[in-house]
Amino acid sequence: MTKWLQECDITYGLIIMYKNVYIRTFGCQMNVHDSEKIRGILQEEGYLLTDSPRTADLIIFNTCNIRQKAEQKFYSELGRTKSHKKKRPEIKILVAGCIAQHEGENIFKKASHVDFVFGPQNIHMLKGFLRNNKFFIATEDNPDIAVIDLPVERGDGLKAWVTIIYGCNNYCSYCVVPYTRGPERSRPSEYILSEVINLAYTGYKEITLLGQNVNSYRSNTDFSGLLRKLDTIEGIERIRFVTSHPKDLSDELIDTISDLPKVCEHIHLPLQSGSSNILKLMNRGYTYDDYLEKISSLRKKILNISITSDIIAGFPGETDKDHLLTMNALKEIQFDGIFAFKFSPRQYTRAAGMENQVPENIKSERLKEILRIQDNITERINKSLEGTVHEILVEGESKTDSSKLTGRTRTNKIVNIPKRDSCIGKLINVEIILGRKHSLKGKPV
Ligand code: 5AD
Ligand code: SF4
Repeated sequence: MTKWLQECDITYGLIIMYKNVYIRTFGCQMNVHDSEKIRGILQEEGYLLTDSPRTADLIIFNTCNIRQKAEQKFYSELGRTKSHKKKRPEIKILVAGCIAQHEGENIFKKASHVDFVFGPQNIHMLKGFLRNNKFFIATEDNPDIAVIDLPVERGDGLKAWVTIIYGCNNYCSYCVVPYTRGPERSRPSEYILSEVINLAYTGYKEITLLGQNVNSYRSNTDFSGLLRKLDTIEGIERIRFVTSHPKDLSDELIDTISDLPKVCEHIHLPLQSGSSNILKLMNRGYTYDDYLEKISSLRKKILNISITSDIIAGFPGETDKDHLLTMNALKEIQFDGIFAFKFSPRQYTRAAGMENQVPENIKSERLKEILRIQDNITERINKSLEGTVHEILVEGESKTDSSKLTGRTRTNKIVNIPKRDSCIGKLINVEIILGRKHSLKGKPV
């Protein structure tokens, strides 16, 4: 992990002692980016990152409660920090993110060794917490979130997350996000443009626009207009965005993606279920046929687009027939990849209180079947790429094999190539020589 500063700086006889912070992030890209903002603030406050909670003066958990599993993981890690605090009572423990928002002061009841609690809409208050240095909680709705610019400490100098829209108004019946991240608020386009111009100036080549539903972006322009403006920024070579909502994916937007050279040929378009009955219960705002139409329009207008999706197995009321419809949908659509999850009942959501909850063992079986079908499809698609040439942005050494470099195609597929340090950070063309389920092997051409 990057160390920002030297352990101790001596400037004109003044000794500045830095404190160590350990940050553990759970959940989605939005949380990963929020942690970059937390790091940005901490850097200004003179903190150094550490890999171990044992050596930290400040321990931060940026939490996720979208599914129960993520929540359990956090609580078990939080439990382990109790002994650190016993040994060194002066350390501070801070819980941020969606569990912080959801639980509020209950966290203090569940874990009395926690010092600060703040939700995703209140990251800007972190500085105040640290300076006051006493028990604190901030979980209020923050209507100004879209116009508060925070310092961001990004990990790499190549690819950057950029928030364009906060919160969500969709209230899918299974989802806790509108309760934790608040109502939808678009960031003014001039803020986004100025951030991206700065990123380009400092050498970033790829940006990923972030929002729960980027398609509903609206400030003085809509999402298509924003993409058109961003596409003109010199130095930025690739533009991506997550997540798209099928109900708001317009023909105009599809045309825009197709027109703009920097916008990559990949869309993450969560389907959730292949059964229109279940989609209705989920409050998704589209039928399976509506979704198919969008897919066909995307494929018609954007050559070789890769499409990925999310699927929920075992939503309340899901029958064997509904499940079969989802499996058929996977076969019919042929996604490049999916994330699939067992339905997890979440407090306050409508689905948690619905009748006909599906037993855990059936959810597990259905999930397994879904993954098995999709794995075969992904493998087949990746194999079919063998012999084709793709542009990749070389990101650095592969995490699993230090003799390889890794990069992504415009279609967001990971390609490993033989190591040649000179191409890190560059866009190069590679021929795919082997297509596997989770990655591709390539050679520069
Ligand atoms: N149970 C299971 N999966 C969920 N998701 C969101 N909420 C739940 C839940 N309660 C999944 C959806 C969404 C992705 C980010 O997480 O598929 O698209
Ligand atoms: Fe959750 Fe639906 Fe909003 Fe996505 S669109 S964050 S699934 S409520």
